[in-house]
Amino acid sequence: MSFLIKKPDDIKSSEITSQSVYHERREFIKKMSLATTALIGAGHLSLAEAKAYPELAKSQFSSADKLTSLDDIKSYNNFYEFGTGKVDPAKNAKNFNPKPWSIAVEGEIEKPGVFDLEDFVKPYALEERIYRFRCVEGWSMVIPWVGFPLADMIKQFKPTSKAKYVEFVTLYDKEKMPGQAIRVLPWPYTEGLRIDEAMNPLTLMAVGLYGDELPNQNGAPIRLVVPWKYGFKNIKSIVKIRFTEHEPVSTWHKIGPKEYGFYSNVNPDVDHPRWSQKTERRIGEPFWSPKIQTQMFNGYSEQVAHLYSGMDLKRFF
Ligand code: MTE
Repeated sequence: MSFLIKKPDDIKSSEITSQSVYHERREFIKKMSLATTALIGAGHLSLAEAKAYPELAKSQFSSADKLTSLDDIKSYNNFYEFGTGKVDPAKNAKNFNPKPWSIAVEGEIEKPGVFDLEDFVKPYALEERIYRFRCVEGWSMVIPWVGFPLADMIKQFKPTSKAKYVEFVTLYDKEKMPGQAIRVLPWPYTEGLRIDEAMNPLTLMAVGLYGDELPNQNGAPIRLVVPWKYGFKNIKSIVKIRFTEHEPVSTWHKIGPKEYGFYSNVNPDVDHPRWSQKTERRIGEPFWSPKIQTQMFNGYSEQVAHLYSGMDLKRFF
């Protein structure tokens, strides 16, 4: 069943990837899935072990840090739509069914539309990106995401000259997301980026991690990953992407403008009003391990510092 209302009829895969690379990749994926099916058939692999993205090229932007375990990534979450405790999302998102899913793309673009998730993702080359992930609360992880650069998608929708920002919106459905029955946050969860931040090659639309589909508690079926910003900018379970002329108001900024700025770049020199941001604790490491020194832009200065040249980062925090 397709939820497609308007087809992106002029999005051709060949516009993004050369024909030969595209066909080689398709061939490879076909062979891999045949091999996986054969392994399942022969009883060497159970269906549960067959991953959605078994073989992906690793991005040049990948970090060499030790990976956080899949168990930790899936069991220590912030996803208020499924409860405010760290263990709540794993428990309460068990029955969440992210299929079918559609995404509306609208605002200051030439090609707005509402797309079935599969059609939306199909044109883009997926890759594995191992990124450091730093939460504003002082903990961090290293996560092997599966995704594609947001810039690839933005180019297809042809933003107009008025498109200065991109706003993202999470699903609002109390039946499916029980935490939304309580007004701990103004629902739906929203986030935003400046268009040049959105176009930066590091900015990722993630559809999986550890070679498989995104676990529900991590933002299935599609979420944003902006590794040089604090975790809350990484909005989950996105249903709408809107291009705007004016800076969008993100959820955490709305409820605490003095604590959560629009930019929220990782910055050890700008404390949160209630705690320091100089160090972090890697989830999964023994509690006696020394704390890690947090790096400017979470260690991604080379790729992103130029976006903020001349800006007072204490004011635009
Ligand atoms: N997105 C939505 N829709 N709702 C949320 O509560 N929490 C944010 C972010 N995205 C959140 C969200 C916060 S505070 C963090 S730290 C990260 O998701 C956590 O991502 P993870 O659970 O995959 O580690």
